[in-house]
Amino acid sequence: MKAIASAPGKVILVGEHFVVEGVPAIAAALNLRTRVTAFTIQENIIRVYSKDLRLKEIFREGHIKKDSPLYPIFVAANLAREHAGIDHGLELNIESELPLSAGMGSSAAVSVATAAAVIALKKNLEKEVVSSIAYEAEKIVHKKPSGIDNTISTYGGAILYSKNKGFEKIEINLKDAALVLADTGIPRNTGVMVEKVRKLKARYGAILDLIYASAEALVYEASKAIEVGDVKALGELMNINHGLLSAIGVSIGKLEELIYTARQAGAVGAKITGAGGGGLIVALCYKKDVEKVENALSRVAQRVYVTAISKKGVALEHKN
Ligand code: PMV
Repeated sequence: MKAIASAPGKVILVGEHFVVEGVPAIAAALNLRTRVTAFTIQENIIRVYSKDLRLKEIFREGHIKKDSPLYPIFVAANLAREHAGIDHGLELNIESELPLSAGMGSSAAVSVATAAAVIALKKNLEKEVVSSIAYEAEKIVHKKPSGIDNTISTYGGAILYSKNKGFEKIEINLKDAALVLADTGIPRNTGVMVEKVRKLKARYGAILDLIYASAEALVYEASKAIEVGDVKALGELMNINHGLLSAIGVSIGKLEELIYTARQAGAVGAKITGAGGGGLIVALCYKKDVEKVENALSRVAQRVYVTAISKKGVALEHKN
């Protein structure tokens, strides 16, 4: 038996980091995807092959390599196998259009597509189950994930996500706008950045509480701007959000360089997206300005992606 499932990467438009403490955040699915092919095999093992990592690993009962970069994928596959009642071994092949460890949610997209491909071998897909299995795998990748990455990768479109209240779909009316993402090329670790913010909050609780309250108000305004298609307001709110992220210590010089480059080239708003400390920025532009912004960023960034928000979440591509 064979099943192929795919799941999208994401961009956080506003609210990252604050979301860890219960503030809502807005994430959007991108038109860049990860594809997982799952086969049943006779031997009772789970074999994982990642083309992008150029890694192959065999997980056998009693010999589970927990320090392997492919371990979270094994966890997602194993939970999905139990859920679906599959008593065969599995082989998984992973291919991705998403850059790794950059903040585009590649780890969640892999876990979501893995859970979906394995479940599809025997059962119908239930998005809620797929997302919760992927969340278990995300807990291994990041110390304290908010759950935003697995949720947006499962459901697609744009969501207002909060740890306590779950998620709500947001109607997207941004026809005149495009997103340009630019990579500093500096690797960063989400768990380390989240921990850094936690320590700062423990020391300066009263001050940071005000910043978090401000982030919350901003996220609700941004949600309205997306629904009414107010590109200018969304851009301004993204700029304010970037200021708040700088205030909690997750920006670095290279991120600031990319952000100011994007704004000077005509972006309506530009900010860190994701954990910061390296990784990506996201710039919101009117479509007519995309080329200018892309060209300017190409001179200072390691990679630039002109992307679009995609309504497509996890999907079963093939089954036999
Ligand atoms: O892994 P990234 O760069 O997409 O960051 C995730 C966003 C955080 O809010 C920093 C962490 C989380 O779990 O929500």
